[in-house]
Amino acid sequence: MNRILGRLIMMSSILVFWAASLVSVLSYAATLPLVIDLQSQMQRPPQIIKVVEPHSSQPGRLVQVEYLGYPAAQVFEQLFGPDWKDQDADIEFRALDGYVSRIEIARFQQYRAYLVFGIKDKTEFVVDNIGQNEKHIPLGPYYLIWDNISAPQLLAEGAIDWPYQIHQISMSNSRKQALLPDELARTYAEHSHLTQRYCLTCHQVNGYGGDKWPINLATHIKTMQEDVFKQWVLEPRARNPATTMPPLLDAMPEAQRQEIAEKIYQYLLVLPVATDSIVN
Ligand code: HEC
Repeated sequence: MNRILGRLIMMSSILVFWAASLVSVLSYAATLPLVIDLQSQMQRPPQIIKVVEPHSSQPGRLVQVEYLGYPAAQVFEQLFGPDWKDQDADIEFRALDGYVSRIEIARFQQYRAYLVFGIKDKTEFVVDNIGQNEKHIPLGPYYLIWDNISAPQLLAEGAIDWPYQIHQISMSNSRKQALLPDELARTYAEHSHLTQRYCLTCHQVNGYGGDKWPINLATHIKTMQEDVFKQWVLEPRARNPATTMPPLLDAMPEAQRQEIAEKIYQYLLVLPVATDSIVN
């Protein structure tokens, strides 16, 4: 009797473990339908959305364009079902050339985005990119745009989060998992946030972050003494007089800077190194 019970308990704990690992990784991918099929799935005509086109605009010379498409929220609902907005995840947009742009779901709740596939009264679906001195860049099959006329604060961010040539959309919490795995979420959420905000524009953690100096901090820090780390963060020029790394928040009171550096260090020490990330 006891043996059976023991087995049942073991089996149920395996089940619980399995269920827990199911919730922690979430991923839905959808290849976007042809425009004509999307229109029939959406069962309504596309809208006209007027925006300031950030690729073609310059300070003092804003170019407005009227695009044709659907609210991104409606397309996501069509692709992922009505629960898409309750996920703590990113929406990933994959371009034809493999470029992936990841945008937090929260941002789609804050601002209005549209998935567009044409320009009103034009046969060509292209843009001129003034900043990169490129003309006639094809935008299709799909292009993600934001209503920056109702939300002019978006203008300052330029063309970040405006991916074009999108052919696949997926929803994934892999970035969240790499930067803040479930087992750390309760204690290290703030630490992870500080690291993302102040370090990952230039460095990486488990494959996510910037390319300026793309070391994986999660690996790098595990062999670094705390005082050396803090000096790098608080006074990088003391480590290398020619460095381009900026000192962390140098207008802030010293005690607070120390505290933030300490939190970032603690977090990087305990964060597991993802085996599929670039080792550095
Ligand atoms: C604006 C870009 C930038 C930001 C932001 C930045 N760093 Fe750096 N960091 C660099 C560069 C560039 C180097 C290369 C080292 C040099 O210049 O000598 C570097 C080097 C380092 C090193 C030493 C690596 C080694 O060679 O051992 C550490 C550790 C480090 N950064 C940690 C951090 C942490 C933690 C943060 C966030 C608090 C941060 N960095 C923010 C650009 C940046």
